[in-house]
Amino acid sequence: MDSASVRQKFLDFFASKGHTIVPSAPLVLKNDPTLLFTNSGMVQFKDNFLGNAKPVSARVADTQKCLRVSGKHNDLEEVGIDTYHHTMFEMLGNWSFGDYFKKEAIEWAWELLTEVYKLPKDRLYVSVFKGDDDDNLPFDQEAYDLWKSFVAEDRIIRGNKKDNFWEMADLGPCGPCSEIHVDLRHDDERKRTPGRDLVNNDDPQVIEIWNLVFMEFERYWNPAKGGSSEMLKFDLEYKGADKKQAREKLRSALTLLKPLPNKNVDTGMGFERLCRAINLVASNYDTDVFTPLIHFISDRSGFLYQSSSADAHKQPSSEKTDVAMRVIADHIRAVSFAISDGQLPSNTGAGYVIRRILRRAVRYYYSFLNIKEPFLFTLCPVLAKQLKDVFPELYNQEDYVSKVIREEELSFLRTLDKGLKRIEILESELKGKELGGTLVFELYDTFGFPLDLTSLIARERGFDVDEDGFRVEMEKQKSRSKADAAKETGDWVQIGDDQKTSFIGYDNLESEVRILKYRKLKQKNKELYQLVFDKTPFYAESGGQVGDTGYIENSNEKIVITDTRKENELIVHIADALPENLRATFYAVVDKQKRQLSADNHSATHLLHAALRQVLGKHVEQKGSLVNDKLLRFDFSHFAAMTDEEIRRVEDIVNVKVRENVKLDERRNVPIADAKKLGAMALFGEKYGDFVRVITFDPSFSVELCGGTHVAATGQIGLFKIVSESSVAAGVRRIEAITATEADKYVRETSELVETLRTLLKNPKDLVATTKALLEERSALEKKVEAFHQEQANAIKDNLAARAKKHNGYSVIIEKVTVPDADSLKNIAYGLRNQFDDLVMVLAANIDSKPQVAVMIGASVAEQKVFHAGNMVKELAREIDGGGGGQPFFATAGGKKLEGLDAVLEKARAIIIKN
Ligand code: ALA
Repeated sequence: MDSASVRQKFLDFFASKGHTIVPSAPLVLKNDPTLLFTNSGMVQFKDNFLGNAKPVSARVADTQKCLRVSGKHNDLEEVGIDTYHHTMFEMLGNWSFGDYFKKEAIEWAWELLTEVYKLPKDRLYVSVFKGDDDDNLPFDQEAYDLWKSFVAEDRIIRGNKKDNFWEMADLGPCGPCSEIHVDLRHDDERKRTPGRDLVNNDDPQVIEIWNLVFMEFERYWNPAKGGSSEMLKFDLEYKGADKKQAREKLRSALTLLKPLPNKNVDTGMGFERLCRAINLVASNYDTDVFTPLIHFISDRSGFLYQSSSADAHKQPSSEKTDVAMRVIADHIRAVSFAISDGQLPSNTGAGYVIRRILRRAVRYYYSFLNIKEPFLFTLCPVLAKQLKDVFPELYNQEDYVSKVIREEELSFLRTLDKGLKRIEILESELKGKELGGTLVFELYDTFGFPLDLTSLIARERGFDVDEDGFRVEMEKQKSRSKADAAKETGDWVQIGDDQKTSFIGYDNLESEVRILKYRKLKQKNKELYQLVFDKTPFYAESGGQVGDTGYIENSNEKIVITDTRKENELIVHIADALPENLRATFYAVVDKQKRQLSADNHSATHLLHAALRQVLGKHVEQKGSLVNDKLLRFDFSHFAAMTDEEIRRVEDIVNVKVRENVKLDERRNVPIADAKKLGAMALFGEKYGDFVRVITFDPSFSVELCGGTHVAATGQIGLFKIVSESSVAAGVRRIEAITATEADKYVRETSELVETLRTLLKNPKDLVATTKALLEERSALEKKVEAFHQEQANAIKDNLAARAKKHNGYSVIIEKVTVPDADSLKNIAYGLRNQFDDLVMVLAANIDSKPQVAVMIGASVAEQKVFHAGNMVKELAREIDGGGGGQPFFATAGGKKLEGLDAVLEKARAIIIKN
């Protein structure tokens, strides 16, 4: 069964059970502080479980792009070494939001696996939660009893919290789970060792394929305990080898579980493993999810993939070349999908996760497949074509994604070889000992080796890496990470029972509000408060537009709102004080001017986007946007710097639209399909609901899906002016522009500047011509001054030559001179040296009222080694409070005491006459 049918059968099966099929959410998360990437199918439904948002339907199913390379779920080290862990993978899932529970979840899972996919029943094992004392949770008898009607009791395993209690992160929705494992071993082996002994024991042929989670709890910080700060302290300070287990114990002690508003089902099946099990092949890489990639890599590198086998019982080879091919086939998927969802590789946060994966892949082909040029990017078209029908976002941006990857590869290949050589040298110096923190940091900082890459290379060569030491070095270097560590999240405190909150700020800038919940935060030693209202006119930062500011007040108090942000679906208002009476009604007022100016810039952004597509072409896609009351910044895909002419055309198109005073056409709750019919541009990497808001300024010009706030008609923008155009990353350009009052100010300031220059230059007819003439005149004068200095120096030189005196067979010159600059003094000295082979000369010079001494010894005298110019000048410079030095035949010294020049001459005479 090919993978496309496996996927389709899953979706069809759950559709037949009344499920709505939804698209995968983006891989990259924007509004969740607990996660960087979607790490399982349920992430996009977190708010549905918590009761913060209503689900599209009570039963939902999909295939979800997932990435497990950071945080609680991290499989990176296994990837490629084994044959069934991946960075990016597809998770097939079905969900119930307060609808069916354990019974149907278990029945349907069994039906799908054994009747649709026809997996042999005698190869399947299931597990149920055995309970946990630390969390005070009982054995899942209900699930056990339900399974009993399908599988013999000796195939039901009682699992611990680690395997059978599923949580997405430290906090959040969670619950006991039942896993389904498949035993793919040979019959002989199965007879020898029962499969149940190998379940959850890292056997590469007895693997988990499906996890059914019965989501019924939310984990939160126990208000009576230290919460996140205790946890953070542990993470930073605990050094024991049992860190994982100790951390789990502490987390149980610091947190509490409370029931969710509903009992829910959350299931996740590893798509690549399922394809392997159905087709009974030896590894995930032998399914058609990976074979196109593996074949391509094998072809291009010239190495045979030796593990390839349709025999499920054959052990895949652990040859280095095979591991490398698996790593690359895996990593290209993670990297391409993350980039197509809007996450560029970078040096911090989510971007750094992507960079790490990419560099790891580069190192594998460089070291083991003997490929020394960018290679990963050539896999993009293979992958894009393969998944075109499931995830078109990659296919649609193939060109862009491969260019970004190629640039990244080029930049790492520049330092990779040097870094590897450095490791070789270090290795021989260390003689089997540990690589210290500063050295690991050097590899990171100088050669771009992420810690996990250095550790991987170290493991291969059998030496240790001081990871803690590395972290200490990182801490020292980055004050930024310190600021991050100081962030502390407290717990939400609920006021009253109400849960619902709504945004009314498209139509209102003021409103009565009540507080639903609040939370205290510590940021950089300052305390902040987050407030959630029952309804709010404050716009929360999103779609690049800044959050509203303003205040809430009643007759007793006034609290300033300094920012508004989104946390998943919650609209969170930031205040630096907490109201004394949290139960009072307040009047909320949004800063109108700031909102107005932000709206000017946001609408101008839409006009700019449309104008760019007219002038540069349809490949222009939004890659990032910032809109506030001062400016707009717009990042978009385009490969060359814009010409002045293109910039002018874009400005003109936008300003024509401004003057046309096009009315805003705003439509809310438009079904997504209708919105697309209207021609609305959806952005890659954005998650849209089934109903969207469509913002149109002239249907033939700009139609966008957008949640931001806009002008009522474009005339309000006043004037649009681009102030810069630059590059942000490979293939991404950035425009910064201003509108309305800022644009007025810009025009005024520029014309004032011109006026000032005009006045300074005495009101010339042609300002540019006059300025050019001034500059030319100045350079001509400079040349004249130089020639004059030359002439002067020559005259001084001739004068000095005439005054040379014979003494002991030397031509001696000891004189005071006034010269324009140090160069002249040097030229004079060398000139005289050419003239007198037997020269012994000391010049005490006045250069712009600063004293300087020069000693020059002629060629024949220098050979005798009687006079040493460097030593002499040191001695002489004392008279002018200075110091200096030089060669044996020529030396100079500057000083502070101009009056000392006569004493210099005197001393010079004494030295020379003595000899
Ligand atoms: N959320 C569950 C998992 O990822 C299904 O395993």
